Amino acid sequence: MQQAPLLFQPLALRGLILRNRIVLSPMLTYAAERGHVTDWHLMHLGKFAAGGTGLVFMESTKVDPRGCTTPRDPGLWKDEFIPGLERITRFVKGHGAAIGIQLGHSGRKARNSVPWEGRAPLASHPGLEDDGDWELVAPSAVAASPAAERPRALTLPEIQDMVAAWGAAAGRAHRAGFDVLEVHGAHGYLLHQFLSPAANQRNDAYGGSPEKRMRFAVEVVEEVRRHWPAEKPLFFRVSAIDEEGGTIEATVALARALHARGVDMIDCSTGGMTARSITEADRPRLGYQVQHAARIRAEAAVATMAVGLIIHADQAEAILREGSADLVAIGREMLHNPNWPLDAAQKLGVPAPFAVLPPAYGYWLEKRDRSGFGGRPSTWQAGMGPAGAP
Ligand SMILES: Cc1cc2nc3c(=O)[nH]c(=O)nc-3n(C[C@H](O)[C@H](O)[C@H](O)COP(=O)(O)O)c2cc1C
Repeated sequence: MQQAPLLFQPLALRGLILRNRIVLSPMLTYAAERGHVTDWHLMHLGKFAAGGTGLVFMESTKVDPRGCTTPRDPGLWKDEFIPGLERITRFVKGHGAAIGIQLGHSGRKARNSVPWEGRAPLASHPGLEDDGDWELVAPSAVAASPAAERPRALTLPEIQDMVAAWGAAAGRAHRAGFDVLEVHGAHGYLLHQFLSPAANQRNDAYGGSPEKRMRFAVEVVEEVRRHWPAEKPLFFRVSAIDEEGGTIEATVALARALHARGVDMIDCSTGGMTARSITEADRPRLGYQVQHAARIRAEAAVATMAVGLIIHADQAEAILREGSADLVAIGREMLHNPNWPLDAAQKLGVPAPFAVLPPAYGYWLEKRDRSGFGGRPSTWQAGMGPAGAP
């Protein structure tokens, strides 16, 4: 007998039970207004909950206005942001999905135009709060790219303030009703900048050796854990390798240190330290980052989430079956098909696949399927007719 697909088996993480192991990867949508979420976010995240996803991640939400990648990033640096987010968590949870939030700070990679306006560094910007110019801050005064402005190196007291800002944002995320919190430690943003020998040229307690470069990430996690309830899972996204000397060995050591401090899941991405978004050699393959999730899971003895060009149901199922990861995060393919979990359930032979959707959709689609008009979604493969019809 065929084994029940792992992809659709629930997963318990601390006090949370995910209905399946399909995760919407955090993706910025550049739709916030002065840090506030808009109706766009409710529609965007809500449709993945209604599509059957187990865990829906809200995009990178910033702990400090200076840390916004663009002026259209959402924020959580003040209590006023909570009600808008709460509306979203209520909706998503009301449709059976869990909802996570990724907290981030872009550091020297902040203050750019949105991608479809060129993702270019903005020469200056009044900032998202009434605090004058939008200043770039980072571990060291090293620019992210030749086109980018040199950031100012954070002072030691400012680093302490930054750690406190992460904790305060985590407390707000809890109050807004999120089930999972992810610390964004990847893609060349502030935490990754501290971890990187290329971006971090400090010679104090926060730089100079691998252990000292890790200190900021460790302090952020400790502070977040103080504000994030013990029954709620904490994830951490890493760039397992990068283009500027970030190695898998260093990431395994980081994963061990973070797991010991209450991180439950390492979300395994790569790259972002240079203008290239991922390492070129790794770019074209399906599942190009899964190997890192497998290695971190095996060597750091921590649960992992795999991400990156995971597209097919069989591929996702194999990642779990082979023990490479505990969760599978899907980004762009879900933008293409927000009902991906339904298609995967059909492909993997899950009984009653239409039950993955809310009855307002699933009831009718199941009825249509039984009446012989096809349960498969594709219009370009077979159309709506009975098998064999044009
Ligand atoms: C439009 C867009 C926005 C993204 N925003 C974020 C983000 O806010 N935080 C993050 O960690 N990764 C972000 N990513 C990366 C995705 O989470 C994911 O890791 C990446 O797209 C690879 O997965 P995929 O091949 O399934 O899309 C973004 C990707 C896209 C396409």
